[in-house]
Amino acid sequence: MYYPLIRNVLFQLGPEHAHDLTLQQLRRINGTPFAALVRQRLPTRPVKCMGLTFKNALGLAAGLDKNGECIDIFGALGFGFVEIGTVTPRAQPGNDKPRMFRIIEAEGIINRMGFNNLGVDYLVENVKKSRFDGILGINIGKNKDTALERGKEDYLICMEKVYPYADYIAINISSPNTPGLRTLQYGEALDDLLAAIKIKQKDLEKTHAKYVPLAVKIAPDLSEEEVIQIADSLVRYDIDGVIATNTTLDRSLVGGLKNSNEVGGLSGRPLQLRSTEVIRRLAQELQGRIPIIGVGGIDSLISAREKIAAGAMLVQIYSGFIYKGPPLIKEIVTHL
Ligand SMILES: Cc1cc2nc3c(=O)[nH]c(=O)nc-3n(C[C@H](O)[C@H](O)[C@H](O)COP(=O)(O)O)c2cc1C
Repeated sequence: MYYPLIRNVLFQLGPEHAHDLTLQQLRRINGTPFAALVRQRLPTRPVKCMGLTFKNALGLAAGLDKNGECIDIFGALGFGFVEIGTVTPRAQPGNDKPRMFRIIEAEGIINRMGFNNLGVDYLVENVKKSRFDGILGINIGKNKDTALERGKEDYLICMEKVYPYADYIAINISSPNTPGLRTLQYGEALDDLLAAIKIKQKDLEKTHAKYVPLAVKIAPDLSEEEVIQIADSLVRYDIDGVIATNTTLDRSLVGGLKNSNEVGGLSGRPLQLRSTEVIRRLAQELQGRIPIIGVGGIDSLISAREKIAAGAMLVQIYSGFIYKGPPLIKEIVTHL
């Protein structure tokens, strides 16, 4: 397969440069006949989740296409669903570069991007142009310079803007790279946010005569008790789905490796077991009342199956896609 060759070339470049260059090339062919060059024809394996029908159980995780510029191409590669974002109400540059690092030996990535994105209006314009016929998730967050106490307002602004165009909306409260964001996962702050987004969802459902499910994305760095508390809150507020997990702050599996001391969230293979553990505990607590979308370190059919066995209905990949490329999509979609 040609991906190892492409990867060799891309890995000569810095990770963010490689990422930007790849997206730039994909953007160029997005919506043109050249998109056929990357198309993978894969079997349809429908999965019903959150009231939606997914043509297969594999999705692109948030953060790769933050502005929704390459939706159709990711669809052509074979993903059953694509989650774009995280998007914030206003454009923001993110953290200073360098802010993305490979941990090659462990097939991991550390990033501290900080929600660099061009703002929700730009993303919506891209979605309007897309012809993707799979499920589109839009992942929303808060601007860095919005005070945490007012963070809720940013989620509501984004919900209002993306609602007509999303198949589901992911509420990201688990990025480690926006100061304080993860505190929204606990206690009153969580309940307050969940209550507000649920009311907003009801209003928007009436306005648009369309029900768009809400999925909350959580961190892997939670104690068992915290996982249980979050699960209970999600049930209490009738949230439609939970995405587990985001990146980890834990470095115990990459100690001593190059770049392992960089600040940010770790993803890829070193996250695999921890995220599966969180899914398993969530599933025990939820007992099927809320579906789980499993993400974290999936790099093979086997690791995708482990997420499903732990209780996930759908799975997503990011780092595995960087290391393994389109063949990983084919392997998982064909055999899962
Ligand atoms: C460079 C990079 C940027 C990311 N940006 C986002 C983001 O904007 N929003 C989000 O919810 N998750 C983001 N993530 C987390 C991924 O969506 C995913 O939850 C995590 O990487 C674990 O999956 P993986 O091991 O397959 O990469 C990002 C991950 C990486 C590596």
